[in-house]
This record gives sequence, structure tokens and C-alpha cells, in this order.
Amino acid sequence: TPSSPLTPAEIPTVDSFAFAFDIDGVLIRGGRPIPEAIEAMKVLNGENEYGMKIPYIFLTNGGGKTEEERCIDLSRQLDIEVSPAQFICGHTPMREMVEQHGTVLVVGGEGEKCRQVAEGYGFRDVITPGDIIKDNAATTPFRTLTEEERRNSKKRDFSKTKIEAIFVFADSRDWAGDIQIILDLAMSKGGYIGTLSETFDEGPPIYFSHSDIVWSAAHDNVRLGMGALRRMIEMLFKDLTKGKELETIAFGKPQIGTFQFATRLLQQWRKDEHHCNKPPETVYFVGDTPESDIRGTNQFNEKSKNDWYSILVETGVYQPGTVPTYKPRVTVPNVLEAVKHGMHREF
Ligand code: G3P
Ligand code: MG
Repeated sequence: TPSSPLTPAEIPTVDSFAFAFDIDGVLIRGGRPIPEAIEAMKVLNGENEYGMKIPYIFLTNGGGKTEEERCIDLSRQLDIEVSPAQFICGHTPMREMVEQHGTVLVVGGEGEKCRQVAEGYGFRDVITPGDIIKDNAATTPFRTLTEEERRNSKKRDFSKTKIEAIFVFADSRDWAGDIQIILDLAMSKGGYIGTLSETFDEGPPIYFSHSDIVWSAAHDNVRLGMGALRRMIEMLFKDLTKGKELETIAFGKPQIGTFQFATRLLQQWRKDEHHCNKPPETVYFVGDTPESDIRGTNQFNEKSKNDWYSILVETGVYQPGTVPTYKPRVTVPNVLEAVKHGMHREF
């Protein structure tokens, strides 16, 4: 007798493996889905010959919006429902630092977005470069705030404000101005804007949400990313201080801490959404950037109790035919082939 099709909730879930996906260059490029990505998501959600759902999470170095907003975009782009409970972006783990720093400078992203993200994480006192420029327009000789920026920027007495840490949440929209302000603080007396240290070793710590020098966007060739800004700041600090080293801290892939965070999120997601209680034996990580995705996955695999299996795709940063700087377990043309590869290994 013909059986009626299962509802999505009735489709059984595999509990021995899971997938984790990088976004830019794997699923999305320049705001548009990579064609095979939509089909790949359908396969994971049960449209496959085994009639099983496969749990998955997203792990991107990108950022600049709340996790909720980013998941709404991704749901629309990939034609699925993405929950913030299965999503990590570059700045997500920064939310664990709210207790450590009082007043912080948040850099990058569109308008007030990153201030809102940081406040949403629980940071108590968030300053933006706009606040500093509003207070003293001479800070950035070639950047004048727009009317809207002036309205949004907050007035305060910077002579009494100690900036305890700098967080670069997303790509800078004004490299010259942001580099100037970050260096001003790195060279300041203890985080007071407008001061100049004699020793250049008392500036606030500087955190970047990732360290990708390039990434895959709409252009045919890779584009400069936050890691490039980081390099410029470190190099300029050295030039300006006659040889002092500036040590900055990066989050995101390939950092081990990011993969540990992802492991906890995946465990919770599998438990809440799929009722899987034991950890997966294998996590397939699909990425396009050898330096962050493959390096991080391989490195974490050595430390992790379960198998983290790196899959490199040819739709982003990695150029087919070249030798990747970090060797993946397998290279495939696109994300759909990556999903099929994992499934064939398992079934
Ligand atoms: O700015 C985002 C980019 O550097 C990388 O994003 O998704 O490839 O980790 P993703
Ligand atoms: Mg990528």
C-alpha cells in the first residue's frame, strides 16, 4: 500500500556524523547562493536515497550583523530555515568576553550595526570610531561624518574615558580612519585617546574577529579581508614606534578556540533539534580557504576526540590546479559534491 510522505519532523536523523559549513566561497558569493548550495541543503534535509536527515551547522569568519539577522539572510538565500542555534560567525565567541572589559571600542561594519551587536552580547559601554571623530574632527583629516553618523555618534568626555579593549567585529568601511584610531589607541598612554605613550607598551588589547587576509566575494579574484587590515596595523605600529612589536589577538578560524566553540554548539544543536545525545564520530567540515578552514579543521582534528574531516571546495579562495597551503582530506568541485562525498563514506 502506498505510504504518505513523511513530514520533515518524521524523517529520521543520522547520529554518527554531521556537517559544518563555511559560508563565503562555499555556500554564498557576493550575497548570492552558489548554485549547488541549495541542492546540497535539500540533500541534508532528507532528500537523499537513504531518506535520512543529517545535522549541520554554519561556521563563518564573516560578521557585521546579529546572528539572528544573518540567519534570516541565509534562510532566504538557501531556501531553508537556519536557526541562530546552528550558526557561529567571527564575532560570536567574543560574547564570552563581556565580563573582562568595561569600555570597549568596536570597529567595522555598516553604520551602528556592530555597536548594536556588541551591546546585544552584553558589553556595557561601547564606543565607535564615529564617537571619537564627533568629539574631535581632526582625528581623521579626510573623513567627515555624514549627517546620520553625526546623529548616531555619542558625545562623551574622552579625556576621562579609558578604552580597555578594541574589538574589530567586521570589515572596516573606512580603512584610513579606522587604522588611524586603532593606532592612536595602541600608542596611547593606557587607552586614553589623544595621549601618546613614551614606551608604547600600554595600549589596550586588540582583538580581531578573524584573520583572513583574503576572502571570496562577487569579484572573480579574491578580495582583501580583515586579516589584511590587521597586518597593516601591526606593520605600521612597528614603523611608528621604531621597531616595537604589536601583538594582536585573532578569533575565528583557524583558531582552536573557535572549533571548540563549534563543537559545543553542534552538540547542543544535535541534542535540541535532533535528539542525538552521543557525540558524532565524524564532523565533515567544508571550506574554501586552506589557511583558515583546512588548517583549523586539521589542527583541531589532532586534538579532538571525534574525527574532523576537512573537505576543500573549488568555488572560492582556493584555485583549482594549485597546491593548497594546508592539505585537505579531499578536494571536490563544490559543496554538493562535498555532501555526497561524506555520505558515501558513511553509508
Ligand atoms: O569576511 C568574511 C570572510 O573573511 C570569510 O567568511 O564564510 O569564508 O569564513 P567565510
Ligand atoms: Mg570561505
